[in-house]
Amino acid sequence: MFQNSIKKSRLDFIRLQSDNTIKQFDCGDQDLNDFILRRAPEFQKYLLSVSYACVDVDDASKVYAYCSLANDKVAVGDFKDKTEFNRFRKKQGFPNEKRLKSYPAVKLCRLGVDESAKGCQIGTTVLDYIKSMFVFENKTGCRFLTVDAYLKAVPFYEKNGFRFMNAEDDDPHTRLMYFDLIDLVA
Ligand SMILES: CC(C)(COP(=O)(O)OP(=O)(O)OC[C@H]1O[C@@H](n2cnc3c(N)ncnc32)[C@H](O)[C@@H]1OP(=O)(O)O)[C@@H](O)C(=O)NCCC(=O)NCCS
Repeated sequence: MFQNSIKKSRLDFIRLQSDNTIKQFDCGDQDLNDFILRRAPEFQKYLLSVSYACVDVDDASKVYAYCSLANDKVAVGDFKDKTEFNRFRKKQGFPNEKRLKSYPAVKLCRLGVDESAKGCQIGTTVLDYIKSMFVFENKTGCRFLTVDAYLKAVPFYEKNGFRFMNAEDDDPHTRLMYFDLIDLVA
């Protein structure tokens, strides 16, 4: 355990290619580990998601965190009914002429921090990296970052500015949450 001792200057982000697999990683969640160690390259190959690894700046085989992303949208289907969608649009301050049927978003499909590096603000650093990627370098419009958050990870996302899309969700294991990227430019 590094016990809050990994400096940001030690971190580097690499975009993983489908032939570049992670050999060693344990975020404490078996499903996530299995995806990261075995299934991620196939998703990459079929352009279903893009994977990034947060690695040690001097040793890229030392993976501190993994995340994968895919295009998404926020639309009426994410809400209980049209009224809730309208409430959401109002809350984000969209004027009438910007009341679109859907809003561009990017989904955080998977996120895990290696057990050896948890509690060192690395998960937060990964979220900051993703947020800035879609505000400052993105070539298309993107307003929201979305995630189906594991219940145990909800406090982590709340600390990082994510909010619940709905008052409650059908899935008993996850909560649909979003980060409004406009918060970074307003
Ligand atoms: C959830 C996870 C990504 C957090 O990563 P991390 O690098 O340990 O988190 P950070 O150090 O950046 O934590 C940021 C803040 O969130 C809090 N936090 C993190 N995980 C938390 C948890 N499970 N419960 C409550 N608070 C938590 C931290 O205490 C910290 O608060 P502080 O800023 O007041 O000190 C990591 O624990 C993990 O990989 N978990 C297993 C896989 C998982 O659940 N992934 C999410 C899938 S949706």
